[in-house]
Amino acid sequence: MMKYRIRQMKPSDVSSVVRIANQSFLETARLGWLIGYRIVQRLMSNRECLFIAETDRGDLAGFVVGELKDDKAVINWIAVHPSHRSRGVGGMLLKAVEEKAREKGIRIVETGTPFARPFYEKYGYKCVDIRRSMLLELVGRSISIPKGLRIRTIMLEELPMLLDFIGDENEWLRFAAAYFEAYESDPEKAILITNKDGEILGVAIGRSEKICSELVTLSYIFAKKKEDTMKILNSLAYVVSSRGHRWLGVKLPIAGITEEHLERAGWQDARLPFFWTMYRMRKKL
Ligand SMILES: CC(C)(COP(=O)(O)OP(=O)(O)OC[C@H]1O[C@@H](n2cnc3c(N)ncnc32)[C@H](O)[C@@H]1OP(=O)(O)O)[C@@H](O)C(=O)NCCC(=O)NCCS
Repeated sequence: MMKYRIRQMKPSDVSSVVRIANQSFLETARLGWLIGYRIVQRLMSNRECLFIAETDRGDLAGFVVGELKDDKAVINWIAVHPSHRSRGVGGMLLKAVEEKAREKGIRIVETGTPFARPFYEKYGYKCVDIRRSMLLELVGRSISIPKGLRIRTIMLEELPMLLDFIGDENEWLRFAAAYFEAYESDPEKAILITNKDGEILGVAIGRSEKICSELVTLSYIFAKKKEDTMKILNSLAYVVSSRGHRWLGVKLPIAGITEEHLERAGWQDARLPFFWTMYRMRKKL
């Protein structure tokens, strides 16, 4: 039976830690540029909650990156290499952060996870919030322009006119920020939807994901009448489908659309490695 021990992470562990992340995470924390950069930053700024699990032969089996804030501890990342799983190593790493928190008088530990909810539940964490993301698979179904609507790309010159349409400056600024984020990479995904008489019903903006361009996510949506929101979203689905993308993703909540609306229209809970529903977990120590 292999024995494991926990110790503080050192700068010389970074390459082994990145290799564990590469081979462990389903989600994007697997990416070397992301996890490597963040861990080095944490080694520079605050390493009190960075721990390693190693075998009695000195091989790295897993790691945890946590941090102590004023009133709570946060688990940023935890991973155990597949060949050392289900032997309690993940639990030992969690405990190391929890003990550090207790020492400082902190009584709450929090984390967010797409795929490891059962792991946290095993160690007494409760799900306190679900940040739902949903996906529409655009392949294998019929997708057309919603009846009676016209779709066109938003031109730069139309921004002032859309301030009048949206009516609230802060709301419009959120729109404009999303517009310029998509300006270079996805100009055709900033759309304005009118009825046949040219009356504007709403606007939507989508952006293809950097990590997987098969996925486009909704970055902004506004409908003058809330009951038109689904039609505006369907118009974006048409544009995204017509460029050959595979998925359209949204993060809830969206005013005017419920989870049930989306489910009825064929949307599903998001469980892609680069787009997922997030479970917020909390434990009282
Ligand atoms: C989650 C993880 C750290 C658990 O490590 P571990 O050393 O196997 O954990 P433990 O042995 O202490 O506990 C195992 C429990 O985790 C859960 N679990 C097992 N495999 C899992 C997996 N692939 N993903 C999530 N949870 C898992 C089960 O509830 C299991 O309990 P059981 O052994 O009684 O069935 C490890 O599976 C992993 O690295 N997963 C990928 C990375 C990840 O999802 N990290 C957390 C999200 S940020």
